[in-house]
Amino acid sequence: MKKYIIVLAAIVSFVALLSFSLKDHPVSDANDEFFQKDSIASVMAFKDVYKVLISPRCVNCHPSGDVPLQGDDSHLHSMLPQRGKDGKGINAMKCGNCHQATSMEGLNQPPGHPDWHLPPADMKMVFEGKTAEQLAKQLVNPKTNGGKTMKQLIEHADDGLVKIGWNMGEGRTAPPISHAEFKKAWITWIEKGAYAPGSNK
Ligand code: HEC
Ligand code: HEC
Repeated sequence: MKKYIIVLAAIVSFVALLSFSLKDHPVSDANDEFFQKDSIASVMAFKDVYKVLISPRCVNCHPSGDVPLQGDDSHLHSMLPQRGKDGKGINAMKCGNCHQATSMEGLNQPPGHPDWHLPPADMKMVFEGKTAEQLAKQLVNPKTNGGKTMKQLIEHADDGLVKIGWNMGEGRTAPPISHAEFKKAWITWIEKGAYAPGSNK
């Protein structure tokens, strides 16, 4: 009988110790692992990422409908060019007919990039109207992000159509932080575990 009590006491104190150490384990103490998951740092970084994603320079090409948006107030694109299957427009209203390889000088001239287009019809990658939680989840899901792995997602920070957001020509407000700051926040968000705000993934 005494034996059982000792064993029981041992188990009880072990469990108590375990839960105590789990509870008090700081989320971000160690640098011993290169990509240390850290939900707090990840979610913090996503705040900066989100500010950029929902800025007009990005939302205007990531609309919920099939017409791109224009201006700092994200109104419907004049003459209503349509997304089309591949995102490059339809018939006479192909994006590339007006949007050149680089942004044109002067107010109200079309911004440009050699591959100027919207995401395709079967993978719309909508940013417009999405909450931070919805967007974080959508970005890391290969079913909604164009089949990208985490590595490809990290590399996308330097994609030409992302960088053009900071070089859109006269009269268009740049995203709220610099591209370098965005890239840093983007990579931190992903490497710390790509956590979505408001969820305990
Ligand atoms: C008939 C010419 C024409 C076509 C076709 C066209 N655009 Fe535009 N686009 C423009 C012009 C001009 C502007 C600048 C308007 C302004 O600043 O007042 C513009 C601006 C934009 C902007 C706004 C950028 C910003 O952040 O304010 C986006 C986004 C855009 N176009 C996307 C597209 C996409 C995608 C397509 C194809 C589906 C397309 N456009 C087709 C002429 C065109
Ligand atoms: C000219 C239109 C255009 C502009 C402007 C644009 N994008 Fe995109 N974006 C696209 C297209 C097209 C794709 C899909 C192509 C691909 O996945 O490689 C895409 C894909 C993405 C993806 C991958 C989607 C996902 O769910 O993982 C991210 C992230 C992204 N864009 C971020 C941005 C950011 C940030 C900005 C603003 C700084 C921006 N984009 C501005 C057209 C645009």
